[in-house]
Amino acid sequence: MSNIPLSLEDRVINQSLSLVNTPALPLEDKSVLQIWGRASLKGHVEISGAKNSALAIMAAALLCPGDCRLQNVPSLVDVKRMGQILTSLGVKLERNGNTLDLNSTYLKNSKAPYELVSQLRASFFVIGPMLARLGVARVPLPGGCAIGARPVDLHVRGLQLLGAEVHIEHGTVHAYVSGSSRRRLKGAKIYLDYPSVGATETLMMAATLAEGETILENVAQEPEVVDLANFCRAMGAKIRGAGTKTIIISGVPSLHSVDYSIIPDRIETGTFLVAGAITHSELTLSPVVPEHLTSVIAKLHDIGVKVIAEGSDCLRIIPGNLQAKDIKTLPYPGFPTDMQAQFMALLSLSEGDSLITETVFENRLRHFAELNRMGADIRVEGNTAIVRGVPMLSGAPVVATDLRASAALVIAGLAAEGKTTIQGLHHLDRGYENLEAKLQKLGARLQRVKDEAEPSLIE
Ligand code: EPZ
Repeated sequence: MSNIPLSLEDRVINQSLSLVNTPALPLEDKSVLQIWGRASLKGHVEISGAKNSALAIMAAALLCPGDCRLQNVPSLVDVKRMGQILTSLGVKLERNGNTLDLNSTYLKNSKAPYELVSQLRASFFVIGPMLARLGVARVPLPGGCAIGARPVDLHVRGLQLLGAEVHIEHGTVHAYVSGSSRRRLKGAKIYLDYPSVGATETLMMAATLAEGETILENVAQEPEVVDLANFCRAMGAKIRGAGTKTIIISGVPSLHSVDYSIIPDRIETGTFLVAGAITHSELTLSPVVPEHLTSVIAKLHDIGVKVIAEGSDCLRIIPGNLQAKDIKTLPYPGFPTDMQAQFMALLSLSEGDSLITETVFENRLRHFAELNRMGADIRVEGNTAIVRGVPMLSGAPVVATDLRASAALVIAGLAAEGKTTIQGLHHLDRGYENLEAKLQKLGARLQRVKDEAEPSLIE
């Protein structure tokens, strides 16, 4: 046991960590998803709140020394983990169904615990709000994951331009605002080398409480960035231009309590649209924001599937014969990288050859191998997958490699002949709320069993 006396802060952190029951690691998680394919789906899908909005907005609640009520928060493992990280920083949190009440009045700890940050990349988003509120933040590097190295150099560079001293030591990013000016960041003009969603969100949050004006150029335009900006504006932040290439923030001394509802999840919507397309099913989905899915709907039309808007927040998918089409992932409003795996499953059953080029992440094509185990004909060269359409997929035991890859395997399993068994469900549970129940309601034949050895209830 080290004899170095623990600082008060470390004692508080240790104490808060002991209160936080970190999620059980899925080390022994043997549950698998069994899917019997070729069932056609029918009915209506209820879309949940957007995971990538909820995670950023939960971090932004650190900016406000008061109550924040968030509505339409999806019940996901990632949201639970973000909640644990906020709790370890001193935030009071209470969940009632899809409503989350947060109070960051007594935000004391400036150090996010490694055990939690290492399990959720989005937890790095707390660095901007903590620095803006406390003038100091210590956040472990989130590290890479299955889809890429996931560096944070754009976040760090931007915080330095806002006047923070930032250095990385023993895998932790130490950031602090020196000087007597109430340790406030200073507005700056920042050009992002790449329209990174996370870096845009980190710097926008940090700038809300900085002295003076911040201009962020070449920023991400994703709907989740706009949702975060709207949440901060509802707390009294002065932000213009979210959703365009340039965001301007005029710093204010403090922010106030707010009651805010998260936008619907466009990636969950897209995932169910592809599930309808691949099973030749007619479905309706709501609530949705159709303009958040323009590139996805356009691509489905190209492939031969109609998607029509019914009212302001409902979509209907009309199936059709699937034609091969090329896809290139790009920052919003381009085709979303988070829909690439799902479309690879769809194009594996489309007539002809399709090229899928992944330009956003360097290692996000790995699901091709598992789809090939189900009879797909896909080969990968560099960052491009060449998908040769086949008439049929066949059910097989497969392993999910990341969140959207697991969704792609579910989609393929719904269309395949016979039974598919999917391992690695901890990936799926990070990003999809009640996926099995929603699919069962549409008539899909699937069940989650503790262990593959268990007899299946559906024959
Ligand atoms: C967000 O990740 C989303 N996650 C991702 O969704 C999504 O795929 C991604 O944006 C792109 O749309 C959340 O919002 C929680 P980036 P983020 O920074 O912010 C490089 C899902 O499935 N980069 O836009 O981490 C980076 O390596 C997840 O829901 C740097 O080089 O993505 C990547 O190649 C997966 N330096 C590219 O930018 C940096 O400092 C895009 O990353 C930051 C990023």
